[in-house]
Amino acid sequence: MHRLVVIPGDGIGREVVPVAVEILEALLPGLQTREADAGWDCFQRQGCAVPEATFDALRECGAGLFGAVSSPSHRVPGYRSAILQLRQGLRLGTSLRPVRSWPSLSSRPGVDLIILRENSEGLYSGREHLEAEGVAIAERVVTREACLALAHRAQDVAKARHARRITLVHKANVLPLTCGLFRDTCREVLEGEGWASELDERLVDVAALQLVEQPEAFDLIVTTNLFGDILPDLACHWSGGLGLAPSLNWGEGIALAEPVHGSAPDIVGSGRANPLGAILSTALLLRYHWQEPVLAQRLEGAVESFLWEEGRADFGFETTRVVGQGILAAL
Ligand code: NAI
Ligand code: MG
Repeated sequence: MHRLVVIPGDGIGREVVPVAVEILEALLPGLQTREADAGWDCFQRQGCAVPEATFDALRECGAGLFGAVSSPSHRVPGYRSAILQLRQGLRLGTSLRPVRSWPSLSSRPGVDLIILRENSEGLYSGREHLEAEGVAIAERVVTREACLALAHRAQDVAKARHARRITLVHKANVLPLTCGLFRDTCREVLEGEGWASELDERLVDVAALQLVEQPEAFDLIVTTNLFGDILPDLACHWSGGLGLAPSLNWGEGIALAEPVHGSAPDIVGSGRANPLGAILSTALLLRYHWQEPVLAQRLEGAVESFLWEEGRADFGFETTRVVGQGILAAL
């Protein structure tokens, strides 16, 4: 029995999540869903961005689909980003972000890579303070424990996709202690698991250039939190844009699927939100968390045949509806 906590959140999260859930229900007729609250609206109503009931529901069900939340870009007393709280509170230590060329949308065929990002620490540990007037400091935390968890996830993904290459992306020349610990720990695990001949490494700046010049050269990228935030947004250009970039926040026995995009206040309510990012995120839940590779393949195949047939994923003010119904029909 599959159980899913549905967290639409803010903005277009509320528009794309119901579409993705309807499609997942068609694939998994026994799916039990339960809605939960999180985000900026939730904070304004209840005074907290992630109520304890949402954490409880996720711990109980072990799987969730999260739409998007809005975050103010200035400091608001008492507010902390909902998705950061969820990642840290549920120990969702890895974020998995695939990028592949989709028919009709991608400007470059042949791209098929996964970026695995450390999701709980690094420069996003939340340890930021004002040291003095005009001096702000953020601490970059890297622990062996988190690197071990990431490396074991990398091994799972490498096995599932028969990886031909695993690239560790870091900046150990400038950050020898933090990036060095990351690199050495990942090497230790992956070499120990028999991946020595596929294993490779790149400095992050060179990796960014190569993702532009020769994205086909990558297969599985493993990196730290900040680099893993930036590189997927760059790479997802090859898949056809932010609207169809999926991700999976992944911990031990628990996973939260989440489209990469935000709450898109500029198009909210217009019908133009593309639900493919949310739909493809549920395919990641199927493949990596629920161990249902055949269903994941069916869902991705339906997206592929829809795109072949329609030749686009932008239907103006009818995008959310037309894409959702098109994928259902293709299934
Ligand atoms: P955004 O991803 O919301 O939007 C960037 C641009 O892409 C906008 O022009 C938007 O219309 C377009 N876009 C995004 N998703 C789309 C979709 N599914 N279909 C069609 N077009 C799409 O990023 P932005 O504008 O920087 O942030 C807006 C709000 O979202 C902010 O409050 C930010 O904090 C939040 N945010 C939340 C994230 C999350 O929940 N994980 C991630 C990124 C931003
Ligand atoms: Mg990002």
